[in-house]
Amino acid sequence: MSLLDVRNLTVTYAGGAAAVRGVDLRLDAGRKLGLAGESGCGKSTLALALLRLLPAGARITGEVLLDGEDVLAMKWGRVRAVRWAGASVVFQGAMHSLNAVHRVGDQIAEPILLHRKATAAGAKKKTGELLEQVGLPAARADAYPHELSGGQRQRVMIAMALACDPRLIIADEPTTALDVMIQAQILRLIEQLVADQDLGLIMISHDLAVLADTCDRLAVMYAGRVVEEGPARQVYEDARHPYARALSAAFPRIGDPASRFAPQGLAGDPPDPAALPSGCTFHPRCPVALESCSAQDPVLRAAGPERRAACVLVGPPGAEARGERATAEPGGRGKDPTDGPGALEERTAEGPEALEEARRSTP
Ligand SMILES: Nc1ncnc2c1ncn2[C@@H]1O[C@H](COP(=O)(O)OP(=O)(O)O)[C@@H](O)[C@H]1O
Ligand code: SF4
Ligand SMILES: [Mg+2]
Repeated sequence: MSLLDVRNLTVTYAGGAAAVRGVDLRLDAGRKLGLAGESGCGKSTLALALLRLLPAGARITGEVLLDGEDVLAMKWGRVRAVRWAGASVVFQGAMHSLNAVHRVGDQIAEPILLHRKATAAGAKKKTGELLEQVGLPAARADAYPHELSGGQRQRVMIAMALACDPRLIIADEPTTALDVMIQAQILRLIEQLVADQDLGLIMISHDLAVLADTCDRLAVMYAGRVVEEGPARQVYEDARHPYARALSAAFPRIGDPASRFAPQGLAGDPPDPAALPSGCTFHPRCPVALESCSAQDPVLRAAGPERRAACVLVGPPGAEARGERATAEPGGRGKDPTDGPGALEERTAEGPEALEEARRSTP
């Protein structure tokens, strides 16, 4: 059984914004999954939905199985316990997440007292151990948040996330607000803790390079959907989906000085989730879009061993004509709303020859 198994997750905000649209993800203990995509593509919404932390009025459907238990079907008391002991989130901007008027030690101890039913002395001891685990002296427990640097505050946030020995850590842009040197330290710390304690990690970032360096697998989101998923290095270095390729090209490569001076951007803005384009939501910005892309909404399909991508141009030659899609890949469960009578005809509306031609001309 996977540590986390997300099935067909959708989130619609009260105003009608479909921020997450049918996401399937799977993560085993001890594994690290990176979640990438431009600002507004739904990464934080997905993270919040996993622990039901969304604002009132947001509608969630699907399943979030944590060790086989559906978080979306739990009673609130159980959800609160799971938030600390099952999975916990490290947010961006530790200054805003910590309470400015309480000592950091007391803030770390609070969930230990509450959820672990520890004594005051036991919670204090555990707090000291946690601070040392994240590279801070135990005596820093007496500090107030403003007495710590940005990197130290983020370490406190990580200590707090580890307070009740969770099995899964969700880190949402944990290093975005930090300078580059501290960023690297915090990333190495998270990697070390995950490895030492056999935790699962979901690391969210807009920075594909950081994720490729830290994670085993990488999922790239666009307009509320995962459009590509696979081994992190492969997705970063040889993305199959045109959006993932553009995102990857936007980051300079180590050892490739040319890319440093000519990072390629992507024209246009991500779509408004309340007014998504028809067909493939990426088609207005896609440099290799076919005419049919404004009408057909491609689902994830096999894009190589343990890889999936949601693009009509992806797959072995002829795959489109045969209607092949990913069902055997990790995370692929064959939930294809366009499968069934008519789906094959829909996907091959332009004919296999047109697809072949487009594939050949895809860079
Ligand atoms: N509380 C909210 N109410 C309505 N819409 C929201 C809310 N939070 C986020 N959104 C919208 O949902 C989309 C996804 O946002 P978010 O999950 O924060 O993206 P990301 O983390 O990838 O930048 C955005 O279009 C955003 O404007
Ligand atoms: S389906 Fe069409 S528009 Fe969408 S990414 Fe592929 S080629 Fe581009
Ligand atoms: Mg976000």
